[in-house]
Order: sequence, then C-alpha cells, then structure tokens
Amino acid sequence: MDADQLLAGLHAAAPVVAPSLLAADFANLESEIRRLEEAGARILHLDIMDGHFVPNLSFGLPVVEAVRRVSRLPLDVHLMISHPTQYVRRFREAGADLLTIHVETAPEPIRLLQEIRRLGACAGLTLNPPTPVQSVEPYLEFCDLVLVMSVMPGFGGQTFQPVALEKLRRLRQTGGKRLLLSVDGGVDTGTAGPCAEAGADLLVVGTGLFSAGDYRRRLSELTETSRAVRACGSKE
Ligand code: DX5
Ligand code: ZN
Repeated sequence: MDADQLLAGLHAAAPVVAPSLLAADFANLESEIRRLEEAGARILHLDIMDGHFVPNLSFGLPVVEAVRRVSRLPLDVHLMISHPTQYVRRFREAGADLLTIHVETAPEPIRLLQEIRRLGACAGLTLNPPTPVQSVEPYLEFCDLVLVMSVMPGFGGQTFQPVALEKLRRLRQTGGKRLLLSVDGGVDTGTAGPCAEAGADLLVVGTGLFSAGDYRRRLSELTETSRAVRACGSKE
C-alpha cells in the first residue's frame, strides 16, 4: 500500500490497536494472524530484536517475509537493533509498510528517515522511557510516526510507565496533527484510554490482547475504550 494512503487511513481510523505478534503463538503464526484479521485488526506490529540493543532475540527478515505472504494487513516493523542503517532496505523488501528506528541507535537519524521514505515506507522514530522527548523533536518533520516506548524494549508483559503519557501530550503539541503517535509496552484495557486521551493514534498491544481467549471481544474493548476518551476530548 502507498505510504500516504496508509497514513491517511490510520489517521482517519485513530485510535487504532496494533497487535504485537511478539505475544502470538509462533508455532501457529498463520492461524494467529487469521484470528486477528477476523477479529478486525487493521495493522500488525512486528518486533525485531537483535540481542545487542535489547537483551533479547525475537525474529528477523524471514518471519517478516512469511507474515507478508499470508496477510495483506500493513506491517508496522519496530527495529530494536543496533545497526538499523544496514537493514532498513531489507526489511522494506521483506514487506514492512512502516519502519521505526530507535533514536538511541541513530544519533543523526535524518538520512535514515529519508531513506525509509524513499523506499516507499512510512518513517518512524522511537525513544525509550529514560530518553528525553527533546531527543526526537529536531527530527519530527522527517517522521511520519513517533513511537513512544512505555516500557524498556526487549520483553512483552511489562508494566506501563506513565512517563509515556507526558511525552505523548507534548509530541501532540510539538508534532501537530500530521504526526502519527504510537505507544508500545504495557498497553491494556486499563492504560489504553489514558494513552488515547494523551494523543496516541496507534496502541501497540501484545499481552493485553493475546492473553484473551476471544481476540475480537478484547480488540473491541480496547478500541471502544480508546475511542470513547478521544470522542470526549474532541467535544471540549
Ligand atoms: C517491547 C515490544 C513491544 C511488546 C509489547 O519490547 O516493543 O511491542 O510486544 O508487549 P506488551 O503489550 O506485552 O507490553
Ligand atoms: Zn514494539
């Protein structure tokens, strides 16, 4: 899908839940994806970990390619890797529609964000909970998306850190409406509302979705909760 169309669609539908496949049953990935599609998911979040930038390994290019083969949903690829410059082209070729790099791994991210856009994907920049929001602000015009980490990256199932809410609020102001804001880590039915209220357009949810037996029901609970607060906010 064309990057501009994808962004316009996500903005129009926001807040949107992005299931994180990290929490899926990898032995049955295709059926997990099918269940998510049937539950109404409109995007998939894929976490790439290199055991270097983060103290864990997840999956890499072959899995992104495999997911691309079985689903037409946009793929939101989160690169938790030390050397993103070497890999963005390959992840795009593997099927990524959004590619997000960490500001901690790319102290001069402009060229890389431009390259992601040149490759036809949406360019995302993300920051860890201890990283000040000011570290991404000089680059906002080169970003289609900013992903605010609400846990230290590397593992699913951690507790949401409220510092993310302050960052979302500030980025909503400094980045304007054009910027797609995403939040990742510890998002569940309790934290989705505050995230949406603070300005999140995309809510990445792993454990908070896959722990449910009924994905459709949980996905609509998460979506309804976040839409309700957004609707209240827009009336003010
Ligand atoms: C954390 C990853 C997340 C993770 C979120 O390093 O970037 O995308 O899957 O998982 P939960 O929702 O379980 O915190
Ligand atoms: Zn992630």
